[in-house]
Amino acid sequence: MAISKNQSFSLFLFCLFFVVKIPRLQAHIAEYDDYWRERELQAKENLEKAYNPNPEDVTKHFNDHVVRTLMELGTNTTTRDLLQKTNKRAPCESNNPIDRCWRCDPNWIRNRQRLADCALGFGRGTTGGKNGPIYVVTDPSDDVIDPKPGTLRHAVIQHGPLWITFARGMIITLKEELLMTSNKTIDGRGANVHICYGAGITVQFVNNVIIHNVHIHHILPKNGGIVKDGASHFGLRTRSDGDGISLFGATHIWLDHLSMYKCSDGIIDAIMGCTAITISNCHFTDHNDVFLFGASDAYLPDKKMQITVAFNHFGKKLVQRMPRVRLGFVHVVNNEYTYWLMYAIGGSSNPTIISQGNRYRAPHNLAAKEVCKREYAMPEEWKNWNWRSEGDLMLNGATFIQSGDPNASKKFGADQILPFNPAHKVPFLVKWSGTLICVPHKPC
Ligand SMILES: *[C@@H]1O[C@H](CO)[C@@H](O)[C@H](O)[C@H]1NC(C)=O
Ligand SMILES: *[C@@H]1O[C@H](CO)[C@@H](O)[C@H](O)[C@H]1NC(C)=O
Ligand SMILES: *[C@@H]1O[C@H](CO)[C@@H](O)[C@H](O)[C@H]1NC(C)=O
Repeated sequence: MAISKNQSFSLFLFCLFFVVKIPRLQAHIAEYDDYWRERELQAKENLEKAYNPNPEDVTKHFNDHVVRTLMELGTNTTTRDLLQKTNKRAPCESNNPIDRCWRCDPNWIRNRQRLADCALGFGRGTTGGKNGPIYVVTDPSDDVIDPKPGTLRHAVIQHGPLWITFARGMIITLKEELLMTSNKTIDGRGANVHICYGAGITVQFVNNVIIHNVHIHHILPKNGGIVKDGASHFGLRTRSDGDGISLFGATHIWLDHLSMYKCSDGIIDAIMGCTAITISNCHFTDHNDVFLFGASDAYLPDKKMQITVAFNHFGKKLVQRMPRVRLGFVHVVNNEYTYWLMYAIGGSSNPTIISQGNRYRAPHNLAAKEVCKREYAMPEEWKNWNWRSEGDLMLNGATFIQSGDPNASKKFGADQILPFNPAHKVPFLVKWSGTLICVPHKPC
């Protein structure tokens, strides 16, 4: 059958569509201009630079810090002590090595940027807006094309490092994704800030961001369109998914003390070449797909994805993916899992998962006692994946089917001299997860 001119033209269009579209799947960039091409190139370089060829140095360093902190604190805490929620303003408690770095400083408001030295794990060294000016958000409104000075969107597109704070508590409803730029900190301490009922935060082809102490919930998909995405650039976006925080080709990211729930898609996604990330001290509830780390089994640069998930509380009404990992390396350490409906940790394409000192409480459903779920692979294949559990506490019949090299968790464990931090301390370590109420001139 002869192909008419018209048909061949549509065939040409069809091919063009796939050639252009497939490698940039889900990038949400409708128009890849020089500005975004440059950011993408930079992100690829950043991935190479931020990747650590010796992840055991990072996991050991992290574990050693936890053990040292517990020893310093001389935690003679009993379960009863732990269950009693102490007065929020009682003498400052900083129960884990990240919090201990800044939390008990009554002058936190003057020393806000000290936080920039506190990240541990793969996101260690993330400094965000350190050494930049303080930018105070005074206006909760959002204009995606002409962001007003004093709004969060105006702040995040500024060139150069910026430490973004809030004048008071506010509800910010984003009309489209908040497109961040490099070297920024969003610091919600001292204000009750909710980002909700609109689009979420997108950290795409960006390096060095801290997001701290804000509530993010009820995030919705948005249609896209023209959005100001740089100090002097407008981008054209396609429809967004409704993720709480979407990390895309992002490096050196630290997410700490966030309270997140009820987003339409993922709570946090880290996809398409992310690495050097720590998610710590957060509280997650009421959500289906919690973390997606890697979106495509075919995207091999995700082998360089390295993420620490520590001191988080995975709370009520969560379903699955805490996290769900492809190809990369995730250190899941000292987290509290109080509930999952289907499973806690999943993955495909041979990711490495080192689970240490977590508390896993299984649901009552006998079919959901297993922590892990391996996808798209038969046991002959996944038996070689390094998914190791060391020092985890299994509650209510929870099980963790391990695979891979039995020595792998030893390799990534703590210093030989120090005892490995036990999971029964987890309620103490995560006691202050989620947002903190910080009052001037008092410890947070
Ligand atoms: C912890 O308990 C031991 C023995 O019960 C005691 O000797 C030690 O002083 C306690 N440490 C702290 C910091 O309370
Ligand atoms: C971020 O800060 C670093 C260190 O100061 C600098 O080298 C880099 O160019 C900055 N990135 C951007 C995109 O401004
Ligand atoms: C694990 O380590 C022990 C000694 O540390 C060694 O004898 C054994 O062969 C190792 N196993 C594997 C599978 O590498």
